[in-house]
Amino acid sequence: MAVLVTGGTGYIGSVTCVKLLQAGEEVVIADNLSNSDISVTDRIKKITGKNFSFYKADVRDKAAMRDIFAKHKIEACIHFAGLKAVYESISKPLEYYDNNIGGTIALLEIMKEANVKKIVFSSSATVYGNNEPPFSEDMEIGLETTNPYGTTKLFIEKILGDLAISDPEWGVMLLRYFNPIGADESGLLGDDPNGIPTNLMPYIQRVATGKLPKLFIYGNDYETPDGTCIRDYIHVADLARGHINAVYRVRTMSGIDIYNLGTGTGYSVLDIVKTFMKVNDIDVPFEYAPRRDGDVVTSFCDPTKAKREIGFTTEKTLDDMCRDSYNFIKKLTN
Ligand code: NAD
Ligand code: UD1
Repeated sequence: MAVLVTGGTGYIGSVTCVKLLQAGEEVVIADNLSNSDISVTDRIKKITGKNFSFYKADVRDKAAMRDIFAKHKIEACIHFAGLKAVYESISKPLEYYDNNIGGTIALLEIMKEANVKKIVFSSSATVYGNNEPPFSEDMEIGLETTNPYGTTKLFIEKILGDLAISDPEWGVMLLRYFNPIGADESGLLGDDPNGIPTNLMPYIQRVATGKLPKLFIYGNDYETPDGTCIRDYIHVADLARGHINAVYRVRTMSGIDIYNLGTGTGYSVLDIVKTFMKVNDIDVPFEYAPRRDGDVVTSFCDPTKAKREIGFTTEKTLDDMCRDSYNFIKKLTN
């Protein structure tokens, strides 16, 4: 029985496929390559020494997806496929609603047709909006998203919740990721978005490799110990491992469950920059800039439910995250 991984050649999906293959799972990837490259499939094979099936397919293309379900005995799906650029989503809301929400609905319809009713979904800490940290899964979440990307995550969570109520055969797991950074330990898989990055670590990587002159730290007058915003950064390899725990559980579950995937510890923007410079022995020039619209001051999770119910804890340190991020970008640019 196989696990279908949509978006499996992307940043988090590719590292998750490595962990799934290493855990002995059969993997089938469906990705339209809109934000990833086919060469990722060779890198996954190189790291694991294992084979898997890859389909260049859009999850909205029902005929193509139906074909995949016909060819493989799929028992569960991890649904990473989606667009994720917050600022792009503000200027292209219809594309985001179509791709993320439309894509999820199309996938669910094909899953239902194939009688495969177990799904793990990539949600985001963004759904907590302006709640008070530490964020826990039982907190009320309203409609406080600040951008269409965040709204797609919120709506998909609701859609999956309604689906779970409609039929007890559905087992739905919502994973709310905090801030994934770092790269696969091999240095072959990591995060290097197209264009100028808007997320912190990809931007630092570009400065460290001389592609951008300096980092702008958005705001140093927040109510935090050093004045910069605080986030719960999680190593992508830990995050990927969390999906193994999730798949083991979703196989036999009925209804819906939500888990935070984070470390539970917050670090400031300055902590990240200083740690990156220290562990990699490299300068990252920066200057303070005005606050960025839509940023929450402090975001970190309560990780206890994931530990208690699916046995997930993180292992990597902030040093590991910064070292692996730099290792990946150095390999990519050499
Ligand atoms: P990514 O862009 O690297 O990977 C997404 C993959 O999905 C890409 O390979 C892309 O080609 C593919 N894709 C997009 N639309 C598709 C479609 N319609 N059909 C088939 N494939 C499609 O992003 P990522 O960082 O790996 O994120 C994976 C998931 O996790 C996304 O849903 C994202 O919203 C969510 N998430 C990411 C973060 C983060 O910081 N990276 C945080 C929270 C949640
Ligand atoms: C952002 C998204 C969030 C999404 C997450 C993962 C916003 C408002 N939120 O979260 O919805 O789930 O990415 O994709 O965009 N920073 C700088 N300089 C930079 C870049 C970032 O100082 O060049 C700061 C930010 O102000 C923030 C921190 O670094 O305080 C982390 O930023 P980022 O990596 O963009 O993640 P989030 O804003 O937490």
